[in-house]
Amino acid sequence: MRTIDIFDTTLRDGEQSAGINLNTAEKLEIARQLERFGATVIEAGFPASSPGDFEAVEKIASIVKNSTVTGLARAMKSDIDTSWEALRVAQQPHIHIFLATSPIHMEYKLKKSPEQVVDIAVEAVKYAKKYFPLVQWSAEDAFRSDPEFLVQIINKVIQAGATTINIPDTVGYATPQEYGALFKFLKENVTGIDRVKLSAHCHNDLGMAVANSIAAIENGADQVEGTINGIGERAGNAALEEIAVALHIRKDFYKIDTGVNLQEIKRTSQLVSRLTGVAIQPNKAVVGKNAFAHESGIHQDGMLKNRETYEIITPELIGETVAPLSLGKHSGRHAFKDRAISMGFDLTDEQINEAFAQFKKLADRKKEITEEDLFVLFTGKQIES
Ligand code: KIV
Ligand code: ZN
Repeated sequence: MRTIDIFDTTLRDGEQSAGINLNTAEKLEIARQLERFGATVIEAGFPASSPGDFEAVEKIASIVKNSTVTGLARAMKSDIDTSWEALRVAQQPHIHIFLATSPIHMEYKLKKSPEQVVDIAVEAVKYAKKYFPLVQWSAEDAFRSDPEFLVQIINKVIQAGATTINIPDTVGYATPQEYGALFKFLKENVTGIDRVKLSAHCHNDLGMAVANSIAAIENGADQVEGTINGIGERAGNAALEEIAVALHIRKDFYKIDTGVNLQEIKRTSQLVSRLTGVAIQPNKAVVGKNAFAHESGIHQDGMLKNRETYEIITPELIGETVAPLSLGKHSGRHAFKDRAISMGFDLTDEQINEAFAQFKKLADRKKEITEEDLFVLFTGKQIES
């Protein structure tokens, strides 16, 4: 079994989503839950960005013990100093420094030449090493950067003391094959790459963040970054619960351990949704309301015979209490009878047939058949007999 670190950035990249604004108490509550979830690293915020972020990072760093706590910093001495003030209380101080390496970012955003960018990155990492034993360096917009330039700058930041190198697909432009190939290329061409952790950070603009993260793992990534429920800038980040469950369900194939406590997934997802106010789409993989809802009669019948016919993930795996099969107009007689039994009714076949006919009429009119509706239907038949 190979181990992959889970770097959670719900409180930093996730909190950067439009409309999210968490206060310190809420961030603390989420950080505690992320610790239970089993995140290897929790990015608690961006200390130099605001006094509120500083306060939250410092509090989280002083409380969380089972995950490494980090904070984001630009490649600037002042950001690194501020980050140290916030993170010095942490058990294992870790800083995450980023600097863009793509031609478009270097020319238009940074207004620096590639040579200047190399110098700034090296200086920042060296400076951070004065304080931090663990220094992660991110090549922002790495996927749109020149791979040869990435090799050159990564070689230098490793020599300067970086302990993790992160390769973000900042704008979610990569496909799995290409992103995986970039990791393979870096593994083969960067000197000393095996002395550091190589990390994947994917955005979901083309809906491929999770697939790209898995491709990176297949090609040598030691760490994947993402957020709970996939929240984040624009279309969001890779959803960590999806990555963890995918690697678990396909563990015979991948042979990878993430250390995630899968039983905490549902609780973590619900907490993040409640505190951020970002609803989870019903059909979202793993944590959506419908992720375990079987609607068609044929599927419900199969499920009643053997759950594995239509269920590759059990709700119990992620700590969800098992909901009974939802009954609606597509449901079959088998599921209907099964529910009558589980609700304590002992009806004859004839009673079931009559109740089922009435149920079908009702289901044509009503989108959702409630427990109360079923109770009325089943009781009516029992009283008549
Ligand atoms: O997407 C990105 O490039 C980032 C960096 C700050 C790591 O979030
Ligand atoms: Zn990001």
